[in-house]
Amino acid sequence: MRVAVVGLGKLGAPLAAVLASKGNDVLGIDVNPEAVRRLQEGVAPVQEPGLQELVTANAKRLSGTTQLEAAAECDVTILLVPTPSDERGAFTNAFLLDAIERVGRGLADRDGYHVVVVASTVMPGSSESELRPAIEQASGRQVGDSLGLCYSPEFIALGNVIRDMLEPDMVLIGESDARAGDTLEALYAGVCENDPPFRRMSLVDAELTKIAVNTYVTMKISYANTLADLCERLPGADVESVTGALGLDTRIGGKYLRGAIAYGGPCFPRDNKAFAVLARDLGTEAPLAEATDAINEAQSHRLARVVLAQLGANDSVGVLGLSYKPDTGVVEESPGIALAALLAESGVREINVYDPVATDAATLVLGDVAHPCASAGEVLERSDVVVIATPWREFAHLPVERVADRDRKPVVIDCWRLLADDLDEAFTVVRLGTPLETHVAR
Ligand SMILES: NC(=O)c1ccc[n+]([C@@H]2O[C@H](COP(=O)([O-])OP(=O)(O)OC[C@H]3O[C@@H](n4cnc5c(N)ncnc54)[C@H](O)[C@@H]3O)[C@@H](O)[C@H]2O)c1
Repeated sequence: MRVAVVGLGKLGAPLAAVLASKGNDVLGIDVNPEAVRRLQEGVAPVQEPGLQELVTANAKRLSGTTQLEAAAECDVTILLVPTPSDERGAFTNAFLLDAIERVGRGLADRDGYHVVVVASTVMPGSSESELRPAIEQASGRQVGDSLGLCYSPEFIALGNVIRDMLEPDMVLIGESDARAGDTLEALYAGVCENDPPFRRMSLVDAELTKIAVNTYVTMKISYANTLADLCERLPGADVESVTGALGLDTRIGGKYLRGAIAYGGPCFPRDNKAFAVLARDLGTEAPLAEATDAINEAQSHRLARVVLAQLGANDSVGVLGLSYKPDTGVVEESPGIALAALLAESGVREINVYDPVATDAATLVLGDVAHPCASAGEVLERSDVVVIATPWREFAHLPVERVADRDRKPVVIDCWRLLADDLDEAFTVVRLGTPLETHVAR
């Protein structure tokens, strides 16, 4: 098929490359000329593992333009533009509407069947109330005639976007009508390598399912973090044992059930807020979503208290891991950055930071409150207390030789229980989710 992907960002760029890798002719569109120029030159517009290789291998099926109207030359247009949250926490559709109107104007000048697919995260109800009228007005077509409308979000984790697109647990398709859904199912069936179930439904059901998945997953994370907090106060407890067994119950499942620190990134933190806004707008409440969010917001303070309890006067702190999760350089809502900022507010005199890919991005956010380091070893050398905030694999093997001649062993706060037990010789290891001396009531 000929597919236009509008928005060549963290999701759109990998989707364009994945679609091209399965034989589709893909037109990548973005208002940012730099993203388009990169695609045209065979350079991945964003950093994502495996993306550059896919772009290079499929360059002949990937073209780019800043002209949104050109999407009309394709059979399907997939929109992956931002839907930033407003001050209430609701997702906003201004970028989507702008994109849809321009795509619609292109469609007005052409014949032939076309499906517009919204893949951005939207408030449930958006497709019917705002997006359908906008595309109908701009294109002069009626949805259901020569125009189909689908809502089909991606379920991906940054750092694993390509694999997640090729092997999704399910493909969710909200559809205006069967022809639109059939067209999109045919496209995605040709992309998926694992024969996933397709769930086809109304537009609003798909919109609600997307946000329900994320609020449910984050509820599990906040639940596990609550267990970790309890275990830190309960003599002999170990959150890993508890969640390990809990997850074996098939009614619960073990994924995302890991007691550690806050979830972050561009999606999870805003989904519960939007869910709660939706409930309020519908005249009800969503206390589970509100509690999930409130528990998450409390996690950086919980961690800062653990760190401060380990600090002597004038001690320095190191933060290892500044991206919000491993295998990505994204620093939005990063727990490592939140911790560094809280420690600075508390008057910690020196905060040393390092991340395998995100040190520069984090330094832009933190400014001069943190000292950027070139390696985990440098952080160790300069710091009395070191926190492993992001579970990058390299942090499981800290270079002990860098602290061998220190009089006082550095404290390492291991939020994800990465370190091998034999490192207890080199460091004083504090494992979150196990009893903390400072927390257990005597
Ligand atoms: N990043 C994630 O992990 C993730 C996961 C699930 C869902 N989503 C959702 O997917 C959507 C896109 O997210 P993202 O992370 O890829 O965003 P992004 O900010 O990385 O990229 C968005 C791209 O859209 C372009 N753009 C903005 N306005 C445009 C317009 N009017 N026309 C054409 N291009 C335009 C931008 O220049 C940018 O390149 C959002 O709704 C987001 O909530 C993101």
